[in-house]
Amino acid sequence: MEANKSLYIRTFGCQMNVHDARRMEEVLGKAGYEMTPDPANAAVIIINTCSVREKSYDKVISAVGRLGQFKQTNPDLILAVAGCVAQQEGQRLLDTAPSVDLVFSPDHIALLPTLIDEAKEQRTVQTGFVDPASYRFLTAASIADQPTTHTALVTIQKGCDNSCSYCIVPSVRGPAVSRPRDEILAEIQTLVASGTSEVTLIGQNVNSYHGSAGTDDDFIELLEAVDGIEGLRRLRFTTSHPKDVHPKLAWCYASLQSLCPWLHLPVQSGSSRVLALMNRGYTREHYVEHVRRIRDRCPNLSLGTDLIVGYPGETDEDFLETISLLEELQYDYAYSFKFSARPGTHAEQLPGELTEKVKASRLAHLQRVQDAITINQLKRWEGQHVEVLVEGPSRRGGDQLCGRSPGNQVVNFEGQVAPGQMVRVRIIEARKHSLHGMIEPT
Ligand code: SAH
Ligand code: SF4
Ligand code: F3S
Repeated sequence: MEANKSLYIRTFGCQMNVHDARRMEEVLGKAGYEMTPDPANAAVIIINTCSVREKSYDKVISAVGRLGQFKQTNPDLILAVAGCVAQQEGQRLLDTAPSVDLVFSPDHIALLPTLIDEAKEQRTVQTGFVDPASYRFLTAASIADQPTTHTALVTIQKGCDNSCSYCIVPSVRGPAVSRPRDEILAEIQTLVASGTSEVTLIGQNVNSYHGSAGTDDDFIELLEAVDGIEGLRRLRFTTSHPKDVHPKLAWCYASLQSLCPWLHLPVQSGSSRVLALMNRGYTREHYVEHVRRIRDRCPNLSLGTDLIVGYPGETDEDFLETISLLEELQYDYAYSFKFSARPGTHAEQLPGELTEKVKASRLAHLQRVQDAITINQLKRWEGQHVEVLVEGPSRRGGDQLCGRSPGNQVVNFEGQVAPGQMVRVRIIEARKHSLHGMIEPT
């Protein structure tokens, strides 16, 4: 009988993890493994984890408990923990979770087939970082029999060199390493040739990208070069850091054909005092000025952000400045979180930790304000025509399809079009987090 080589991956966290999961699939695909949607049948289960907030860690522990149960019916199952909690906890995970066989960090994805073989013999830990000078980025490979992905994430950088006082990412992802520009361009060319229309350049701080030129506009030059790739319809990037926004970025939105009018620019707080405590390297005024310049050149820009409420020592006045920033900038969407103390960060040690009750009530207040702004912003699309890249059936079911507009809004519409097509949709109604429309003949 042939050995069971089915693989199940459960991913938490950000685009870096989504991207890493694809690379795991590819590396293991070459060793004969095939993805299965059903963990009960898997020979290998990988839990790809995030550690950015305490809650994300709890989710991992419960996933380990849930998925580890399959060992009762399948004693040969290899249960692996990957991602940022793997890097953070290492051996401790083996000590606390008896069902875990393998713990490996993001820098060691290329070794997966060997690591799995080792884990069959004895429980294995492979964490730590590869020396930045010898780090090699894994190239996306098309897997035989896999349908084309119409949208793709392309890594341009790994790790982070900043030291935002609350953040665990630099310690779990290591120092920033920029991927060579030729590799990025070659990967996008291959993706486009195999049918990909939309590419999102990803990294923790993409606009601090450094190519071999080593100048402060390397990221802008990269955008220009990617925009020049024939056949690429849409280009996005995330996440950008406000302190590294180059003055020429506004020009890019006006001039680069494929660059979508979408920007995710995490602000974290509307209070310059709190921003300084967070070590973010910009003030509220700098941030607002960047947004104003970009909106001047790109009036249709969809703007999103991340916010933290309840940073230690955040006063009512500081919090109200965050609310006033939301009102001033009218974000299209915002992801907001309660401050969560992370091990080893500067903020973990700070006095002035707010109570759970204060954090929860500030978060609810902020979300109420933003929900109203979000719906207003979605309403500006009613009656307009937007170009939608069709992704597949809508989660709403029926005959509905779903896709995204250039501004990254989810658009649901009735119709029969194959995924990957670009269609013109007239927006009829703004719903809570999406748009609903009718397909228009071209
Ligand atoms: N590199 C990105 C963010 C990565 S983490 C950037 O700098 O913008 C994603 C988001 O999680 C952050 O923007 C922040 O809003 C939130 N976050 C990070 N650490 C946190 C913490 N300790 N508590 C609460 N939210 C946190
Ligand atoms: Fe964390 Fe700041 Fe780096 Fe973002 S830029 S990953 S928030 S340290
Ligand atoms: Fe989470 Fe790691 Fe991303 S901590 S946010 S998965 S880099």
